[in-house]
Parts: sequence; structure tokens; C-alpha cells
Amino acid sequence: MIKNIKTLSSFLCVLIFTSSYVFAEPKQAAIASAHPLATQAGIDILRQGGNAFDAAAAITASLAVVEPYSSGLGGGAFWLVHRSSDKKQTMIDGREKAPMRSTHDMYLDKAGNVVKGLSLNGPMAAGIPGVPAGIEHLVKNYGRLSLKQVLAPAIKQAQEGFAVTERYQKLMGYRKEVIKQYPDAAQIFLNKYDVPAIGALIVQKDLANTLITLANNGRKGFYQGPVAKQLVSSVRENGGIWEPGDLEKYQIIEREPIVVNYNGIKVTSASPPSSGGIVMGQALNILEQFNLEKLDSITRKHIVIEAMRRSYRDRAAYLGDPDFIDIPVDRLLDKNYAGGLALTINSERATPSSELSNIATIDQIGTDTTHFSVVDPEGNRVSATLSINLPFGSGFVAKGTGVLLNNEMDDFSVKPLTANAYGLVGDHANAIAPGKRPLSSMTPTFLETDDRIAVLGTPGGSRIISMVLLGVLDFAEGNAPKSWVSLPRYHHQYLPDQVQYEQGGLSDLEQTALKDKGHVLKEKNRRYGNMQAIMIWKKKDLFFAASDPRGEGSAEVFYYP
Ligand code: DON
Repeated sequence: MIKNIKTLSSFLCVLIFTSSYVFAEPKQAAIASAHPLATQAGIDILRQGGNAFDAAAAITASLAVVEPYSSGLGGGAFWLVHRSSDKKQTMIDGREKAPMRSTHDMYLDKAGNVVKGLSLNGPMAAGIPGVPAGIEHLVKNYGRLSLKQVLAPAIKQAQEGFAVTERYQKLMGYRKEVIKQYPDAAQIFLNKYDVPAIGALIVQKDLANTLITLANNGRKGFYQGPVAKQLVSSVRENGGIWEPGDLEKYQIIEREPIVVNYNGIKVTSASPPSSGGIVMGQALNILEQFNLEKLDSITRKHIVIEAMRRSYRDRAAYLGDPDFIDIPVDRLLDKNYAGGLALTINSERATPSSELSNIATIDQIGTDTTHFSVVDPEGNRVSATLSINLPFGSGFVAKGTGVLLNNEMDDFSVKPLTANAYGLVGDHANAIAPGKRPLSSMTPTFLETDDRIAVLGTPGGSRIISMVLLGVLDFAEGNAPKSWVSLPRYHHQYLPDQVQYEQGGLSDLEQTALKDKGHVLKEKNRRYGNMQAIMIWKKKDLFFAASDPRGEGSAEVFYYP
């Protein structure tokens, strides 16, 4: 008997209600993902005897089908993994790589100006995908089931179709004009060049066949052979620069996660080429110097904003692909370094970012990507953030493959000190080079104390790191996942020098007080983020799961025999 439970109260009711029926030790697991069909795919795989890693591969593949605006076979991901048998923790890096024919100035015109849209739209914007290789890596190295079993739910969903929702419509609204330029994408995702109606079925026969080839042949089914040939020729016909060797040579890399200790909480998070773990870790180290819980809400927010400002500044200066540059990780995460930065915070006044540096930038909103969290009965867990960058990625589908390509190349610093779609700036450390991975903000995270374990993460571009940071602070206060995913959100990323906040993110009083301290405030015209979180209360072996109320996801704690 399976019971789906979302809150503690219903959890307890179900326990009481079902206790007389449970005769064997039931297994307890939890999944939170951005789409109910993906959560279901994970549940199905656990019920078939799979572990959290099999479920993670199944959820990844399912999200590639049912959330085409967020992630996909044409994109990249970081899977943070904890294996309970030997306590191994690793980050599976399936980030996209720049094609070998990429050049430092590939998005600039002869005068050295950025060619608008080139790093965002169409095949020139696409890095070499890592998700198909990541799926195989998870199953082969950590799973218990076969690739065929694990990919079956996604294949079925691609063949049978999924229903268009409000979120689909909204995100398609941002990208319709680009997708219209690419008939193979328009045919799948639009209805005669219009946004499809709610409830309309999106059937992806070509994508189902690509998934079947992956299921039958493993990574070779995608990176070599007919699918690879089709990907390269379609990209080339449409002005892109991919070569067969780009796909053939793509490699997953296992990297040591970033680990910091914040007031007794072990925080494990993404390492470079994501900036997530280092930026969040540095901010936490700064915040450890203050007794946040004793501060009034205004001073507290001011201090958190100042910590964000300083750690995002170092992101711009130092972070990039560790296979190409030396990153001073130890120094950036040194408690004394954080102590020094904390001393530069004035509790009465905002520090202008220009006092830290004087780089000019622009602000834009852009959005999509996805996150899921999964824990199985043995305590294996995966926190994964997956992306094709902007909604519907580059808008380009390679003919005959159903694979929608990412526009992750825009995460590079395409021109020194020029903002990308998220307003982030960078320089040499994140410059384009052949085979390099663009710097990410994705922050899949585990938290652990003596009595609690948490698995969390979210999409949201540059704001991912600050959202997870706020979640960690809420966990530190003893709150549960439902609170972390619903928290009002605010953010500072060094440049632009402004406190961004979602609707309702700051009260009127807080807004006035922060302005008085010298902050420039910028309300976003919508709420942002789509956090998926799980917590285990070890002592009572209680699982909690929550999906961000801003999204359409589903979080399930369930028992199975
Ligand atoms: O890797 C990154 O940081 C970005 N490509 C993530 C994009 C994203 O989260 C968009 N979401 N709302």
C-alpha cells in the first residue's frame, strides 16, 4: 500500500490509519520534483526495486520530456550524490562543454560588440550536452536496475504526450518568437505557431526514439552513431559549429563537493564549474560571524545582503571551470578570510559595490532550469539541478532527434565585464575556450546535523545561490521544508548594485529601512524560484518533502512494501 503524504499532520494521520495493515517493515522514501509525472516516474522505479540513483536517472529523463522548458537531453546538470553503504559523497558533473571550434570572441562583431542573441538563440548558443552521459553514469555506477528499466517511464511519457499547463504557456510566451524560427522545434512545441492551449498534449515521438537508442546502446547511442550524426548535421546546417568529435569526447567528471560547516551544520554543495557551493559557503562563513538569530529582521536582512554582495563579487573575479583555471578554493572558504570580509560590513550602511570594484552591468530576467531531490529507504540521496538555461533553451531542435538544445554558452563571460542574461559579470576566469565548461550558479545541496538531514535546490539563474542560502538559514532556525520552499526571497549579486526581491519578498517597513541604509531596491515583477526539498528527522525516522508553491511540482513521502 502506498500513501502519499505532504504534511506532518496528514503524515501522522496516515500512520495511525495504516498501522493495522502494515505487516512487514515498510520502506520509506521521498521525492520532490518540479513535475508530478517526473515524481511519479521516480516512485515507479523505487517500487521496481531501484535505488535513489536509479530513481534520479528516471526523474532526469522524465523531466527532459515533461518539462522541456527547463532541462533535457540537450542540456547539462549537476547530480550531488550520497551513497549510504560507504558514505561516499560526490558531484557528478554533467555540465555542457564549449564545442572545440569555439573561440574567445565568438559572440562579438568586428568592432568588438556583443552580437545580440547569438549566445542565446539557435545552435550557436548550444554547448555539448552532458545529461545523456550523466544518466548512464548514474545507472551504471550507482544504480541497481538496467538503463532500459530506468528510461521506460520517460519513453512512455514522450510517446503518449503530456498536457500543457499554465507554466508551459507562460514560459513559451517568453520564447515563442525564437522557437518560431526553427520549424522542428515549432512543430513539437507550438500549435500552428501559437502557444498551445492548456491541456493540449505535447507528443515527442522523435525524442522517444532517441531515448530508446540511449536505453539500448548507453551513451554511445547519443554521442556516436545515427543520433550523433543527426545532431551534428542539423546544428551545422543551421549555422552552428559542432563536430562529431565534440560529442564523442564528452566526458562526465566526478568532482569532490564543496563542504563547509555553518554553526554545526555540515553543508555539502556543488563545486566548480558551479559557483554555487563556494559562493554560498563564503556567504555562510561571513554570516557565522554574526548572531543572526538575535538580530531584528531589518538588520538581519541587511547583513545577509552584504554577505551576498561580497561572495558574489568573488564569483565574478575568481570562478570558472577548474580544468582551465586555478581557483583559490581554500582561501575563498577560509574562515579568517570571511572574518575579514565580515569586518568590512557596516551594520548601519550599505557598502556600494563600487567600493569593492567598479564594473558596470545591466539587469535582465531570464528563467528556467529545474531541481529534484530524492531519498530512498537505505538513505541514498540525490540532489540534482538540471538546465538548458533560458526557457526552452536555445529554441532549436536538431532535426529528427527531438532534442531541444541548450543555450548554456551564455553562462560564459562572452565579453569581459559584460553582463549575461542574469546580469552576472565575469572576466578571464569564465572566458570562452574550446572544451571549457561555462560557470554555473546551480546549487544542489545536502545539509546534515546530528538529528536532521536535508536535500534541497532550485532553479533561478543567478538567484539560485541566494535562494538556497536563505533555505539553509531557515533550516538552521529549525524550520521544515515547507517553510524553506515558501520563504519570501531577496537577493544581491554584487552587480547590478541593487537588492532584488520578489513580490512580497520584503515588507513595507523593511523596504523603507533598507533604503534608509543606502540600498537600492528593485522589485521583480513576479515571484521566483522552484525549490524542491526533503528533510529527514533522524531520531523519529520521519521524512518531510515540499515543492515550491510558485511552481507546479509535487513532493511525496511514501511507504512501499
Ligand atoms: O547554470 C546556471 O547557472 C544557469 N544556466 C541556470 C539557469 C536557471 O536557473 C534558469 N532558471 N530559472
